Formats: sequence, structure tokens, C-alpha cells
Amino acid sequence: MTDQRLTIALSKGRIMLDTLRLLQQAGIPVPEDLEESRKLILESPDGRYRYILAKPVDVPTYVEYGVADLGIVGKDVLLEAERDLYELLDLGIGVCRMCVCGLPDGKGGSVSRVASKYLRIATEHFRSRGQQVEVVYLNGSVELAPLIGLADRIVDLVETGRTLQENGLVIHEVIVPISTRVVANRMSFRLKSEQINSLVEGLREVSAPLVQAQNDLLAKTNL
Ligand code: PRP
Repeated sequence: MTDQRLTIALSKGRIMLDTLRLLQQAGIPVPEDLEESRKLILESPDGRYRYILAKPVDVPTYVEYGVADLGIVGKDVLLEAERDLYELLDLGIGVCRMCVCGLPDGKGGSVSRVASKYLRIATEHFRSRGQQVEVVYLNGSVELAPLIGLADRIVDLVETGRTLQENGLVIHEVIVPISTRVVANRMSFRLKSEQINSLVEGLREVSAPLVQAQNDLLAKTNL
């Protein structure tokens, strides 16, 4: 018999607080101590939901392999992972942009080396432009690369733009807008369609104003 609980993989870190707030607003019970606890698997008080607290990059893996029915994770991670999942909903939180950034161009702006945590996204972007570049993987503080001469450009997330500004860097191109998504395992989506649909509809309702605000902003900035 199928386990009728829904197992949800949550992304630890930046988007956790907003995610919990949306779940609560949608009436989905969340354990009270979820944020403070060091536990990695927690159950809702009514036993209907089980939460896995995972590193964002691992969320698509847990969902694709079916150990989590659902995942809540950034579109950046999804684009980079290219897993076989259903993307069900945009939550309108964790809103930022995947950009090509670097020092302001003084000398024609030729690009031969690019640093990024997002190898696939960066490679695909420059390939689609017909530009041959070497993409070097960095795991964080990617903004260092153009400052110290490792790369001509970086491909990274820009949220407020403060990191760029404080390091004298600028956006050269916006690749894609990013926000947090709800994804589902394909088999779970079939076997637990009722529970999943009701959860998604609850979340859709509470996140609609956030998604609208995001779309308005994108329309204004011509993205
Ligand atoms: C992210 C991203 C940028 C920064 C952008 O890094 O990679 O560095 O946030 O935010 P801002 O536009 O509001 O300044 P994060 O803090 O996740 O750490 P990382 O550099 O180690 O990836």
C-alpha cells in the first residue's frame, strides 16, 4: 500500500523562512521547532506531512528518486540539475536573476573565461550565443573571479545587486529570472494526486500576490 503521507524536501538556507511562512499561510502544518531543530527529518503534528531538510542542490535528486514526493527549490538549481520532475508552481519567493556580470568594459569586452557555480547554465548561455568560452567552476564568492583576474565574466545570481556594487562589478546580461518552485516526483504525482493537488492549490492561493508582484516587476524591467 502507498504511504499516504506526503514527503516534502525543503531547501535549507535563504528561502527557508519564506517557504515556512507560505506553508503555514496555506494551512499546511509545519512542526514548530523546524527552524531551530538540527533534525533532518521532521513530521507535522498531524502526521500527514514529513519534511526533509536538504541542501538546495540535493532537493531535485531526492524528488527524482521518489524518496520525497515534492520539493521546494530555486529555479536556478532546477535549470542546473535538469532532473526529470514535474514543475508545479512558482511561489514568487527567492526572486532574483541569473546574470552575466563582470567589470565594466573598457577594452571591447572580449570574453574567453567565465567563472560560475552554474556550469550548465553558463555553458549553455554562451553556446547559444555562438561564443566559445572556457567555463571554470567555483563554489561560491564567485564575484572574486573577475576582480582577481581568474575570469572575464561570471554567471551568478543577483538579488539586490549589493554584492556586485560593493565590488565594482556590473550586470552585462540577464540570462533568466529566477524564483522558488514546487516540484513533484512523476510517480507520486500520479499516486497521490489528490493530496498533491490540494497542497498546490493552497500554496497557489497564498503565493498569487507574490507571483503577480514578480511579474509586474519583470514587465517593468522588460525581461
Ligand atoms: C548569492 C549570489 C551572489 C549574491 C547576490 O551568494 O551568488 O553572490 O548572493 O546577492 P545580492 O545581489 O543581494 O548581493 P550567496 O550569498 O548565496 O553566497 P555564495 O557567494 O557563497 O554563493
